[in-house]
Parts: sequence; structure tokens; C-alpha cells
Amino acid sequence: MIKPDGVRRKLVGEIVARIERKGLRIAAMKMVKIDKEKANKLYEEHMGKSFFNELVSYITSGPVVCMVIEGDEAVKVMRTLIGATDPKDASPGTIRGDFALSKAENVIHASDAEEKAKREMSLFFSQNEIIE
Ligand code: PPS
Repeated sequence: MIKPDGVRRKLVGEIVARIERKGLRIAAMKMVKIDKEKANKLYEEHMGKSFFNELVSYITSGPVVCMVIEGDEAVKVMRTLIGATDPKDASPGTIRGDFALSKAENVIHASDAEEKAKREMSLFFSQNEIIE
């Protein structure tokens, strides 16, 4: 998911190009504005953490671009492509390493496990929106 700062900064094309150049396939893509209820579901594992309210107000602050990415070990490859959660630690050449400085506004989110990917996909896409 390209987060609100990524969309605001017009990085959508750059990020999509990197994903495609890597050889991964975009099986679904849509721009949405997340409401509070969906944000709570997306980030339920972080509920109760000190930054939770900040996280929800940020992710609901503007449109995001949701994608279903397919390919060999897509979860692992996407996590490598985006870089460390804290962009200050993210290697140059990664999306966060190249485009972000703040852990709160770090341009992109990617599921960190296959089960999470399935759950997050189902929050934003119905089965018939995912192109085989
Ligand atoms: S934790 O506590 O280690 O599990 O959290 P972490 O993996 O570092 O981050 C989880 C997501 O929360 C975002 N984050 C923040 N948002 C707002 N403010 C602050 N201070 C903050 N710290 C972390 C971080 O970008 C992660 O978002 P996702 O979308 O999962 O990448």
C-alpha cells in the first residue's frame, strides 16, 4: 500500500515502476480513502501502542493506493524492496531508503507474512477484483 504521504508526494508511478521492474506482477490495484473503522482493522495488532492514534489519523489523512502483488516469494521480496520500517535505517536503493526519513510517514506498507497478506487483501479487494 502506497501510504498518504507517497500519494501526496506523487511517488505512485515511481513505486509501481520499481515493483514491476523487479519482476513482480500487480494482480489488483485501487486508490481508496481509508476510514477510521478500516484503519483500526488494518492496524489492529498495534492497538494500545503509544503511536496508535497517530498511525490511524495519518493513514486516514488522504488517499492510499492498495495493490495485490504476486510473484515468487512476493512477501519477502516486497519487504526487501521497501526497506526497513524506520527509513533512517533503510538501505539506499530501497523505497523507504530513497524517499523517506520519518518512521510515521514512511511512504509504503507491505504485509510481513503470507497470512497477513491474505487478511489485508480481503480488507480492500473482493476475490473477483484480483486478476489471475
Ligand atoms: S512495532 O511496535 O515494532 O511492532 O511497530 P513497527 O513495526 O515499528 O511499526 C508498525 C507500524 O506503525 C508505524 N509507526 C508509526 N506510526 C506513527 N507514529 C509513530 N511514531 C510510528 N512508529 C511506527 C510504522 O510505520 C508501521 O507501519 P506499517 O504500515 O506497518 O509499515
